[in-house]
Amino acid sequence: MTKILVTGGLGFIGSHICVSLLEKNYNVIVIDSLINSDEDNLLSIKKICKFSNNFSNHITFFKGDIKDKELLINIFESSIEDNNPIDAVIHLAGLKSVKESVEQPLEYWETNVFGTMILLEAMKKYNCKKIVFSSSATIYKPIIDELITENSALGPISPYGSTKLAVENMLGDLIKSKPNEWRITNLRYFNPVGAHISGLLGENPKGRPNNLFPILLKVASGEYEKLSIFGNDWPTHDGTCIRDYIHVMDLAEAHISALDLILKSSPFFLNLNIGTGKGKSVLEVVETFKKVNRCEFKYAFNSRREGDSPYVVADNRLALSKLDWKPKRNIDDMCRDAWNWKFKSKK
Ligand code: NAD
Ligand code: UD1
Repeated sequence: MTKILVTGGLGFIGSHICVSLLEKNYNVIVIDSLINSDEDNLLSIKKICKFSNNFSNHITFFKGDIKDKELLINIFESSIEDNNPIDAVIHLAGLKSVKESVEQPLEYWETNVFGTMILLEAMKKYNCKKIVFSSSATIYKPIIDELITENSALGPISPYGSTKLAVENMLGDLIKSKPNEWRITNLRYFNPVGAHISGLLGENPKGRPNNLFPILLKVASGEYEKLSIFGNDWPTHDGTCIRDYIHVMDLAEAHISALDLILKSSPFFLNLNIGTGKGKSVLEVVETFKKVNRCEFKYAFNSRREGDSPYVVADNRLALSKLDWKPKRNIDDMCRDAWNWKFKSKK
C-alpha cells in the first residue's frame, strides 16, 4: 500500500486531502502540531471515510512539529521497520497569515523555511525524494488585469509570500544538485474555499480570521454584525477585487493527480497554478452566497486593504495539461458547502 506523509494534515486543506487519499486507498501518516487546527478533524476524516469505503483505519496521526528532527526520524524509521516505507510527502505544514507574518517575520521564516529544511533532510536521509509542496499565488508580483501564468514575474510583498518563494527556491536547488533523484511539484494555490460536502470538515482557523470566506460565515451566522468590503474603487467591473476561488475538494483532487504524476514519472521539477481560471468579485461572492443559502446580511464598503491587488486569477492551462484533473465545482458549490459546514459544525 503506497504510504504518504501529510504534514499539516489536520488543517483546512490537509484534512480534505487526507479524505481524498484514503478514498484512493493510500496509507496516510499525518504530522501536525495543531497550532492552527484541532484533533477533532481526525475523527471527522475517519467518519467520512467510514461512510464511503471503510478505509478509515489507514491513517496514523503524530502530534508534533516538523522542526522536531527526532520525531521525523522516528516516523520515517518506524515505517521502514514495518516494511512499508514512506513513498512521498505532501507538505502543507506552515503558518499562513499575511498580517501575522508582517508582525512576526522570524516565526514565519523559522516554521515555513527552517521547518521545511528539517523535513527535506529527513526525506533525503531515508531516500524519500518525492514531494508535493503547498505554494501560493502570493509569490507572484501583483499585476492588474492579466491571467497569471507560471512564468509571470515573481515578487511577493509579504514575509509570508517570501517564505513560500524561499521554499520553492530551496526545492529548485535540491533538484539541481541531484537531477536524477528528486521529483518535486510546487502547487501554487489561488483562493481555496468551501468545505467537504458532508459538512464534517471545513475552514476553522484559530483566532480572528482575516480571509473572506471565514469572515463571511461569521457575518451570515450573526457572529459579526456586517462584512467590511475592502474598497469599491478598484479598476474592476463593480469596483471590488477579483479572485480565483477554488473549491477545497477540487484542490484536494489536484493533489491526488500531482501525486500520481510524481509516483509514476521520471525525476522532474514542476510549478503549477491551481485555480479555476475564473475570477469572481467580492460583490459577486456576496450575492451568490446570499442566493444559494437564502440568507441576508449587511455589508459596508471600507477603504482598501494594504497589500491587496484588484485581480488575481490563474491561467491554469499547464495544470490541466499535466495533471489528470480539472476543477468540477463552481462558486455556488463553494458557498453552499461552506455554509453547510458552518451550520452543521456550529463552529
Ligand atoms: P491551516 O493552518 O489550516 O493548515 C496548516 C496546518 O499545519 C495546521 O493544521 C497547523 O496546525 C499545522 N502546522 C503549522 N505549523 C506546523 C509545524 N511547525 N509543524 C507541524 N504542523 C504545523 O492552513 P491551510 O489553509 O490548510 O493551508 C495549508 C498550506 O497551504 C499552508 O502551507 C499554506 O501556506 C498553504 N496555502 C494556503 C492557502 C489558503 O488560502 N488557505 C493559499 C495558498 C497556500
Ligand atoms: C490573502 C492573502 C494571500 C494569501 C491568501 C490565503 C493578503 C493581501 N493576501 O489573499 O497572500 O495567500 O489570503 O491565505 O492578505 N475581503 C474583504 N473583506 C474582508 C476580507 C476580505 O473585502 O473582510 C476581500 C479582499 O480584499 C480580497 C478578497 O476579499 O479582495 C479575498 O480576500 P482573502 O480571502 O483575504 O484572500 P486574498 O486577499 O486573495
